Amino acid sequence: MRFRSKQIHAGVTPDPTTGAILTPIYQSTTFVQESVDSYLAKGYSYSRSGNPTVRALEKKLAELEGGYDATCYGTGMSAVNCTMLAFLSAGDHAIISDVAYGGTYRLCTKVLSRFGVEFSFADTSNPDDVKSKVKENTKLFLTETPANPTMKLSDIAAISEIAKAANAVHVVDNTLITPCYQRAIELGADLSLHSTTKYFDGHNATVGGAVIARTKELDEKIRFIQNSTGSIMSPMVAWLTLQGCKTLSVRMEAQSANALAIARFLESHPKVKQVAYPGLESFPQHQLAKSQSSGFGAMLWFEVEGGLKAGKQLMDSIELWTLAENLGSVESLITHPVTMTHADVDEAERKRVGIIDGLVRLSVGLEDGEDLIEALGKALEDVEV
Ligand SMILES: Cc1ncc(COP(=O)(O)O)c(C=O)c1O
Repeated sequence: MRFRSKQIHAGVTPDPTTGAILTPIYQSTTFVQESVDSYLAKGYSYSRSGNPTVRALEKKLAELEGGYDATCYGTGMSAVNCTMLAFLSAGDHAIISDVAYGGTYRLCTKVLSRFGVEFSFADTSNPDDVKSKVKENTKLFLTETPANPTMKLSDIAAISEIAKAANAVHVVDNTLITPCYQRAIELGADLSLHSTTKYFDGHNATVGGAVIARTKELDEKIRFIQNSTGSIMSPMVAWLTLQGCKTLSVRMEAQSANALAIARFLESHPKVKQVAYPGLESFPQHQLAKSQSSGFGAMLWFEVEGGLKAGKQLMDSIELWTLAENLGSVESLITHPVTMTHADVDEAERKRVGIIDGLVRLSVGLEDGEDLIEALGKALEDVEV
């Protein structure tokens, strides 16, 4: 099956007892066993260890990413946490994208570092910088590409090679672009990670996470942690995400087309100082975007002439766009990462990696692109620079 057919049919079959076309929400804590000797004959015992609705989503995501299997979590951060717990122990070292999501940075620096794990933050857009940070005890590499919110890209194949040579796992946070456009595992990654909160859900309805593993061995390691830490996704969230998956590529295509039109509009606007969108020819890593993904996604950022003050004025006054955290939904969202999503990243580190004070992040939704552009145009007109 091709991607669009898999989105709809992978992992699901009509309910065998009723014929319901949608996988039911198996909202049940426990599963009755027919006898002691036939324990687990039907595959399930207790919903922390496995649930049929969650399992259907796991199978679908594994097929969409081209992995061996997938595990689903209560949040994207729980997926990041379980990945770290599965592949790192006290005394180990990990190399993390210096532009990784603020929550990932916080988890590494303020939580996992307390348990004897050492982290280095590397410019993963430069494989040489990654290579220079490898140590004897490096066990895990995490790249986020495109990165939230800088949109910086990392060469998945090149970093997978470095990880392989170091005998470490390479985890790619593929949240911002999804397997619709970028197959991290096919490009060499060992694990592809998602906040399903974003494009898989797509409707601002849930929070969730997923990790798709290249091999059985990798999947078993992380599934053990999913169960041991009690991190599994809930059946209701899995059910909503299953429905979101079915329209993923249709939404991605329309939202990405809107994003490209918006990026071009902003690029030519006199009150806009800079725009970053991988689909623009002016984007420094445009060639890498073209070579490792089949589309450019629907996230971008820009800076208004007049910096932070003008940016805040625009975000507070713009119509149609909603000032909120989250990304990937059908609703277009506008965010100020410095005060919102990335507030916990140290100021010096934030500046060093390019999260400038005036950065305005756009998650382009599914509204009519012309309406979105008109709203941006009006807000820019009103801004005092
Ligand atoms: C790239 C990326 N990874 C992980 C996460 C964490 O996901 P969640 O908010 O579902 O915990 C986010 C959230 O914004 C994200 O943008």
